[in-house]
Amino acid sequence: MIKENEYKKRRDSLSKSFLKNSIAVIFSAPEATRSNDTHHPYRQDSNFYYLSGFKEDNAALMFIKTKESVKTLLFVQKKDKTLELWNGKRLGTKEAKKRFLVDEVYEIDEFKEIFKASIEDKKNIYFEINSKKRAVKKILKSTKLFKEKLDIIPLIQKMRLVKSAAEIKLIKKSIAITAKAHHRVMSMNKEGKYEYHLQAEIEHEFKNNAAYSDAYTSIVACGNSANTLHYIKNNKPLVDGELILIDAGCEHNYYASDITRTIPVNGKFSEAQKELYNLVLDTQLKVISMIKPQVLRSTLQEKAEKLLTKGMIKLAILKGSVKKAIKEKKHKKYYPHGIGHWMGIDVHDPAPYRDKKNKEIALKEGMVLTIEPGLYIDKDDKSVPKKFRGIGIRIEDDILVTKDGYENLSASIAKSIEEVEAISAKFF
Ligand code: GLY
Ligand code: MN
Ligand code: MN
Repeated sequence: MIKENEYKKRRDSLSKSFLKNSIAVIFSAPEATRSNDTHHPYRQDSNFYYLSGFKEDNAALMFIKTKESVKTLLFVQKKDKTLELWNGKRLGTKEAKKRFLVDEVYEIDEFKEIFKASIEDKKNIYFEINSKKRAVKKILKSTKLFKEKLDIIPLIQKMRLVKSAAEIKLIKKSIAITAKAHHRVMSMNKEGKYEYHLQAEIEHEFKNNAAYSDAYTSIVACGNSANTLHYIKNNKPLVDGELILIDAGCEHNYYASDITRTIPVNGKFSEAQKELYNLVLDTQLKVISMIKPQVLRSTLQEKAEKLLTKGMIKLAILKGSVKKAIKEKKHKKYYPHGIGHWMGIDVHDPAPYRDKKNKEIALKEGMVLTIEPGLYIDKDDKSVPKKFRGIGIRIEDDILVTKDGYENLSASIAKSIEEVEAISAKFF
């Protein structure tokens, strides 16, 4: 769990970056309609959550910074017996005051009046400039009164780059649940099953281990389906002799995991599958081994592209020299995506990749990123040896940058051909 004091430290650090004579506001996420009058389960806005740890909607955080001091105000829904009967308990101002280390707590209905009174002598406002939240739209008119209108979001996102010890603990727990889910589907007999059966087993494991939900819709892609990068239909039968690409990760206590394994339907890799799989795996292991502070993500990307291209030439998927193939971007046809991304409260954590001067941000202790090379060979690609057609492989782990290297947080999940085959249920 993340202690109240850590949220306070985040707010203090954020407000230090505000100009003097400023007001700053950020709102909770609105409820999301599923259809007609039903809703998705409520999930707090990631940036709001990062600053408050508060999981209710109709809430706002306000910072009032004068020349001398900063005051933090939290606005929450008021207690309401009837609404609480239908939708669950609300914390209310009294309890919120006890729990949160903010200076003042108010009911959200008081926001308008307090906002109006607080902006009178302020020069600058920080808010979610690009947000479509209704609450933001409501204050837009007032923001015209300010000398400087500044976006609060990049300031928070920058803070989210480096994870605290408490955050890393939550990410580890999220990954531990996801590990169980991947091992569950590896070891299950897949004869006569469909992709969605595996998805159901994965989600069973998530929910059964107190994960709120998946961090993104699971991809369970058998055979050629794996060549659609964002395949989430998961509605095809599992075919004996094919591989299944499973990209699935849960969200536990607001922290994501993001793991891909590619496993054989019948429990055994074919020779052609092994050749491609080991190329992706060797690439992934080599790229991971380069991770340490000061290294650039673009260096990891280049290394992955080089290794995959070299391997593809060896397997007669590409022709000519590595240099020429890369220069002509020939490899992109089979490896079209990035080597990885930041991960945290969001699966694609929106922390920046470049600084204000557009210089790439180097790796630093406490950052968490995925490393996920892949190769995708369409079933109809006549330019590739027949034995490789219709195979899509990605291998993805979640890596913590440490003081002098890295820790693979998902190292416990079976990955080598030997490990995967050993844990897999087999049928022939
Ligand atoms: N699961 C999304 C990704 O791998 O980026
Ligand atoms: Mn990923
Ligand atoms: Mn993924």
